Amino acid sequence: MNIGIFYATYSGGTQAASEFLTQSLQGSGHQVTMKMISEVAFEDTLNYDLIIFASPSWDFDGKEGQPHQDFIAFLEKSAGKKMDAKNCAVLGLGDSSYAHFCGAVEIMESFITTAGGKLKAESLKIDGYLFDMEKNNTTITEWAKKLTS
Ligand SMILES: Cc1cc2nc3c(=O)[nH]c(=O)nc-3n(C[C@H](O)[C@H](O)[C@H](O)COP(=O)(O)O)c2cc1C
Repeated sequence: MNIGIFYATYSGGTQAASEFLTQSLQGSGHQVTMKMISEVAFEDTLNYDLIIFASPSWDFDGKEGQPHQDFIAFLEKSAGKKMDAKNCAVLGLGDSSYAHFCGAVEIMESFITTAGGKLKAESLKIDGYLFDMEKNNTTITEWAKKLTS
């Protein structure tokens, strides 16, 4: 499968998680391209059989549980565009001590379904990725299997 992983990060966790996911998917024989969401246009994401969006949740404009600012810009620019039943998935990094744990996930899911995309598997929400990377990477490996089954 030809897979595109599009991510944004503030403190490096989502990049590290996306790199691990890339290796995991490549290890099972898939072709994977990983790019920052700020570097791509909506149309570029459509070149893949599976589109994965990966974002932390953060404060934006005084609101908690928002996607990374580069995702907010991407979603705003891409509003109204169509995905034609493309397979998609969402990876969210967050911290459950915040009221809106991984709130970015629901926002990105809603963008995908509104655009006509299909969620290939339940979104993965990771709590405190950098605090236990070994355990969290095991969870990512399990998720990668569901995405490609
Ligand atoms: C200022 C700030 C706001 C945050 N807001 C949220 C939030 O609303 N919901 C949540 O689940 N996590 C929140 N987090 C936790 C981050 O999403 C979490 O640390 C994540 O792993 C960061 O990913 P990154 O390293 O890719 O930037 C926040 C962290 C900071 C520092």
